[in-house]
Amino acid sequence: MTISIAMAGKGGTGKTSIACLIVRYLIKQRRVPVLAVDADPAANLDLGLGVNVEKTIGSILAGYNENKLVIPPGMSKEALLDLKLNESIFESQDFDLITMGRGEGAGCYCFPNNVLKSFIDKLLPNYKFMVMDNEAGLEHLSRGTTESIDHLLLVSNHSVKGVRTVGTIIQLVKELRLNIKHRWVILNQAPETIDPLVEAEFGRLGISIGAAIPEDRLIMEYDWHQRSLLDMPGDSASVQAIDKMMNQILSKNPSEVNS
Ligand SMILES: Nc1ncnc2c1ncn2[C@@H]1O[C@H](COP(=O)(O)OP(=O)(O)O)[C@@H](O)[C@H]1O
Ligand SMILES: [Mg+2]
Repeated sequence: MTISIAMAGKGGTGKTSIACLIVRYLIKQRRVPVLAVDADPAANLDLGLGVNVEKTIGSILAGYNENKLVIPPGMSKEALLDLKLNESIFESQDFDLITMGRGEGAGCYCFPNNVLKSFIDKLLPNYKFMVMDNEAGLEHLSRGTTESIDHLLLVSNHSVKGVRTVGTIIQLVKELRLNIKHRWVILNQAPETIDPLVEAEFGRLGISIGAAIPEDRLIMEYDWHQRSLLDMPGDSASVQAIDKMMNQILSKNPSEVNS
């Protein structure tokens, strides 16, 4: 079974960077192939992974909705859409990447959404892992992009607002009745000592921190030089923390049911 890992949390807290370092971990551990999914409309997972994606699912669906696809004789519209969606997969040796791209605009898109859901579901068995980077919330998951998530990683930085967003998402997950097997709260850019006010906010919401990733200047430098986070050195502080976190996460049996 494919193990799915999804990111959520306030914008700017480090979801994309952590998703890239998780892909790095999986590649180093040879737990491949990995399907990376960029489900953030302000997409930039490709940059973190050191690649450049042009075709997005959003752009293909837009063409579909505007009836811009030229349907060859004897082919159904659905089959053509499937073919086009396949072209949106960026393939590399160890990981493939699907980019959702911008939203689908106004109107009813029930059909394309169902196509999208079955597209991902159909692809999944080809991969050992799926790592999904998300927008702040999980709204699109409520529209049924994926069946279930084995590990939901809720990322906060060292701020009260970041912690509150984690609280809001936990609430949302309950309301949407999403099928999440394990939930992990990750404190990113964590200082050596957590400020008592941030600690108090975690306490107030009854949230315990599952893993802490330290502030690592190298992550920013890789961004400035547009280098792939897959090439981060194994002895850097953030990589070591991610590797430890992943060992902990994967020691859980994904078929177990967690609260
Ligand atoms: N542990 C870290 N140490 C230093 N900088 C970080 C760390 N995590 C993320 N960053 C930086 O913070 C910014 C936001 O990170 P990003 O991963 O894009 O967040 P998000 O995807 O949640 O919006 C980026 O410039 C990134 O380089
Ligand atoms: Mg991001």
